[in-house]
Amino acid sequence: MKGAVELQRKIYEGGIVACEAEMEEKMSMNHYMPTRLITGKGCVKKSLEEWKRIGDRLLIVTGRNSARACGALEDVEEALKANGQKWTLYDKIGQNPKLEDCMEAAKMATEWGAEGVVGIGGGSPLDAAKCIAVLAANPGMTREQLYGLAWKNSPLKIAAVGTTAGTGSEVTKVSVITTDGRKKSFHHDGIYPLLAFGDAGYTMTLPEQFTRSTAVDAMAHCVESYFSKAADGLSRNFAVAGICLLLEVFKKIQKSGCAAMTYEDREKCYEASIYGGLAINKTGTCFPHTMGYLLTEEYGIPHGTACAVFLPEFYAYNQMAAPGLAEKFLQDIHAGKEEWISLVESMTPECRVSIPEEKIAKAHGRWENNNSIMKCQGEMTADMADDILRRILR
Ligand SMILES: [Fe+2]
Repeated sequence: MKGAVELQRKIYEGGIVACEAEMEEKMSMNHYMPTRLITGKGCVKKSLEEWKRIGDRLLIVTGRNSARACGALEDVEEALKANGQKWTLYDKIGQNPKLEDCMEAAKMATEWGAEGVVGIGGGSPLDAAKCIAVLAANPGMTREQLYGLAWKNSPLKIAAVGTTAGTGSEVTKVSVITTDGRKKSFHHDGIYPLLAFGDAGYTMTLPEQFTRSTAVDAMAHCVESYFSKAADGLSRNFAVAGICLLLEVFKKIQKSGCAAMTYEDREKCYEASIYGGLAINKTGTCFPHTMGYLLTEEYGIPHGTACAVFLPEFYAYNQMAAPGLAEKFLQDIHAGKEEWISLVESMTPECRVSIPEEKIAKAHGRWENNNSIMKCQGEMTADMADDILRRILR
């Protein structure tokens, strides 16, 4: 025990904040998540009272087709209609949402007098909804003010309805938005969704490629979080729970493809994505995500796949930097090294890009003083990141 431990706890709406410096060494479970998470079949339509908490006038934010195609948009509209809530729709969010689109949607929200923003979709519409909620509450805000967290007013209320099983954005305070061709994130307690709905039924119609790329995104969140220097006992438990669920499903997909997935398998992936979100809330991600952004920006590789191709290198790095932890990881997930890596690789179609030396040199500065790189075990350097790129992308 570290001296006289005085554990101060403050109970907030849905979470507990504990003072890290005063925690016992063995007890390490700092957590804050003010999001009301509601899951299960039909949860969107069954939660009318909850929907009333988001405001009377709303902006719904979606991608171009998927929210409608999977039935989620219809369910949300039905719930809002039953409550007499009014909404308008912005349905132009693409993959890797752009800041300009968020600004356009925020203008629409302001003109409509929106009190809340409802994101429906995968990571892109959900992250965009968070950004729009900030921009709409702060008309005229510049990009620098947005990313610098210089917000005068609190963001509008946010609800998130997930339609993929990977991002975990429903339960995080992170928004990743593309600006000037670069994916850039901001983190703030003010963008935790007030409400998050997780109905795995919406993921049943996801095509094979999206199912795989989103599932490996969840895997990357869990694995990166586990090995982060910022991890604690609670976040590692979240990460392990997510990985074990995913490995069960990956075994099935490796054998029979995504077409063989049952509703229960889809639920396992969804549950794992939530665990991943809860884990990275504490830790953020490590180098697979930072370096994966480069592959998405330069080669259009889907986000989850772009991150997951770095996982074997990430594990090898941790074997070198933190051998005891790397060993414990295998015990925790009840799998051998070759087994879990081959399952991850079976989910990620081979990354067939080669990256020229000029691009490696140009990206070098990105790895310096980068938060996610600094959170890796040991002392990871930008030169090490260059070498990892060379090994993977040749
Ligand atoms: Fe991710």
